Amino acid sequence: MTVTPSAHAVSQYAATSGKLEARIGLHAYGTNPQDWFSWLQERLPLAGAVLEVGAGTGKLWRHVDHAARGLALTLTDFSPAMCEQLRTVPGARVLRCDATGLPFPDASFDTVVANHMLYHLDDPTVALREFVRVLRTGGRVAIATNGSDHLEELNALAIAIGRPGLTLGAAQNDFTAETGPAYVARFFDQVTVERYPCDLRIPAVEPVLAYLDSMGDEPLTRGKRSTAGRLVQDRIQADGHFHVHKHSVLITACR
Ligand SMILES: C[S@@+](CC[C@H](N)C(=O)[O-])C[C@H]1O[C@@H](n2cnc3c(N)ncnc32)[C@H](O)[C@@H]1O
Repeated sequence: MTVTPSAHAVSQYAATSGKLEARIGLHAYGTNPQDWFSWLQERLPLAGAVLEVGAGTGKLWRHVDHAARGLALTLTDFSPAMCEQLRTVPGARVLRCDATGLPFPDASFDTVVANHMLYHLDDPTVALREFVRVLRTGGRVAIATNGSDHLEELNALAIAIGRPGLTLGAAQNDFTAETGPAYVARFFDQVTVERYPCDLRIPAVEPVLAYLDSMGDEPLTRGKRSTAGRLVQDRIQADGHFHVHKHSVLITACR
């Protein structure tokens, strides 16, 4: 049975922020001493009224002192569980809404941020049109997404244990690092792309199993857990760690 990206997003995020938190946890093993959110915030074109769509747990805003920078911050997500987390970000206005139908007037923001979320939509162009509509002329959009080879060793592991549904691309649309810039250029000017230089070196089996658990509706069975654990342990014994390629980019553009 094929699962649509939006149905998959509901099963992953609507009721809990735990799966997202488990996945963010894996990135603690990054080879870049500057973590993703810190790298990202240095490059975001933040000004005036800022909207983040699909803001998840709001982790980005633990790295940005938005009040000190004079930003008026609005955070949105379609998930009730995520919005509960977002309400703990001091000074942010939080609204639960879908990125494909933003409840804001035309030209009401200076910056729109969509960090690792456009690939969850059935049609990313519907949200891109909304971003154009709510941005003022001259406003900037900042979109992060992944390359098609992102976390390929974890995808290969999911296939090796007979759970192809746990691969990243299994229920996502084609908005990737490769295709994203052209999508964005259909709606915006001055498109730029920058890659975050980082891979993962994971020294233990358990974080990899926790990641695989987070990708499905159910945790791995004992049999699948033990097969995956053995495969990862073999790599750790051979290389000293389980190496995983990352490929994340920031795309920015102007309205
Ligand atoms: C991979 S998480 C990224 C969260 C956050 N931006 C971050 O980087 O930590 C994707 C987020 O997009 C949200 N999301 C998925 N589809 C959405 C939609 N159609 N409208 C709004 N939010 C959506 C999910 O609830 C989830 O919080």
